[in-house]
Amino acid sequence: MLKSAGCDIVAALALTLLARYVAAGPDPNPLVICSSFVHKLIRKERADLRTEAQAVQALLSQIELARLGPTSNASEIAELTSWLTANQSKAGAHLDAASLCLTNRLSPSAFNGRPTFSILLEYFKRPWGIHRMATSLRDACARAGLPCELVVNVDNPHEAGAWAEVVQQYRGFVVPVFSANVHEARGYNRAAGLARGNYLIIWQDDQLAPSQSSTWLTELLALFHAWPRLAIVGMNTYRLCKDREPTNRFLTTSWNPDPRTGVRWSFVQLVDFAPLAIRASAFSELGGLEEGFSRPGDCGIWGDWELCSRAWLAGWQVGYLYLEGRDGDGHEGGTHTSSNAERCWGRQQHVAASGFGKRFGQGSYQLELCERVRQLNVASFDLARPEDCPYGTEATKFGNCTRY
Ligand SMILES: *[C@@H]1O[C@H](CO)[C@@H](O)[C@H](O)[C@H]1NC(C)=O
Ligand SMILES: *[C@@H]1O[C@H](CO)[C@@H](O)[C@H](O)[C@H]1NC(C)=O
Ligand SMILES: *[C@@H]1O[C@H](CO)[C@@H](O)[C@H](O)[C@H]1NC(C)=O
Repeated sequence: MLKSAGCDIVAALALTLLARYVAAGPDPNPLVICSSFVHKLIRKERADLRTEAQAVQALLSQIELARLGPTSNASEIAELTSWLTANQSKAGAHLDAASLCLTNRLSPSAFNGRPTFSILLEYFKRPWGIHRMATSLRDACARAGLPCELVVNVDNPHEAGAWAEVVQQYRGFVVPVFSANVHEARGYNRAAGLARGNYLIIWQDDQLAPSQSSTWLTELLALFHAWPRLAIVGMNTYRLCKDREPTNRFLTTSWNPDPRTGVRWSFVQLVDFAPLAIRASAFSELGGLEEGFSRPGDCGIWGDWELCSRAWLAGWQVGYLYLEGRDGDGHEGGTHTSSNAERCWGRQQHVAASGFGKRFGQGSYQLELCERVRQLNVASFDLARPEDCPYGTEATKFGNCTRY
């Protein structure tokens, strides 16, 4: 009885996923051939065929580009052509139908030229730090061999001249947009709208990337590839279970590295700014940061937890990766200075806490979410020693590490 109910649920889920694909736009795909083709495929087959069809399309355009112009290179064309043949036969008999029916949504990574990471910055009056920060991020991406861009909401346009120079100096890496003191939530949303990368990293204008190692970037990428429902990876502090923890946790998480990626990380309930990485697609699907909690000109201190809560409730997952070796620029930040304290913390604590409550109820769902996070953790990770369990401790007075 239980078993067949389970099968029904699986079947219902499969149908929902199918319906979601077919109705990816406002209406289902209008072609009869596509509707019958797509209905014969399971989700994984569709995803694989789409990837294969786009690999062929990418190679076809690369070959045409390589043939044009004075730099045409016969051995490059020969190499591309042999890849094309191999990819065509891999895609097999379904290639034409897959091209017609499955490639209306591009996988940007199949084609050249898009940045992997768009680092988003909200900038306000820290001229001493511009070059050190831009250099540290540019070098971090170069060491990782990953294309990045730094999209900056310059919130004090009187420094436009300095930023124009930076654009020229960093040749395409830095992309500024100028606003008149709209502050964090609006600034990051604006920057995200300009960003072209697959993944966004919300960064702060007083932070420098680690100067030696770029493993955090390759680890982020590995996590996003291996865990398709993981939308957000925080790298500042985290909560495994907000209502059962006296304060935010940070530093290395206690699970053994995850066997899929070899990366040491954890599922968590909430992470905060910054840095905080999020799939660009998820950021857009979730509607970005809530802009209603703060007035233009005020800081945004609740947007991070609120975004994580929406992510979990929309079916995404949130994780934490400890970023070792991050540095500050040696100057005090603006959020905690006394003139800003009331506007920033007092007002927002009030507005956002009630807005958060209105959206999600008065915390009644919190422990259920904590349990979901705990189950994902104990199912996905092992501990080197039982006493490493992060649950049932002073820092997290919730749960234990029993698997079932
Ligand atoms: C021609 O293409 C081959 C293969 O891609 C490459 O190794 C070689 O450096 C290219 N030669 C020139 C002159 O660009
Ligand atoms: C397909 O094309 C890629 C390059 O785009 C190449 O690396 C790969 O070897 C090709 N062959 C197969 C079977 O995928
Ligand atoms: C661990 O947690 C589970 C689920 O909440 C509970 O049933 C079990 O009694 C706990 N075990 C211990 C040793 O506390």
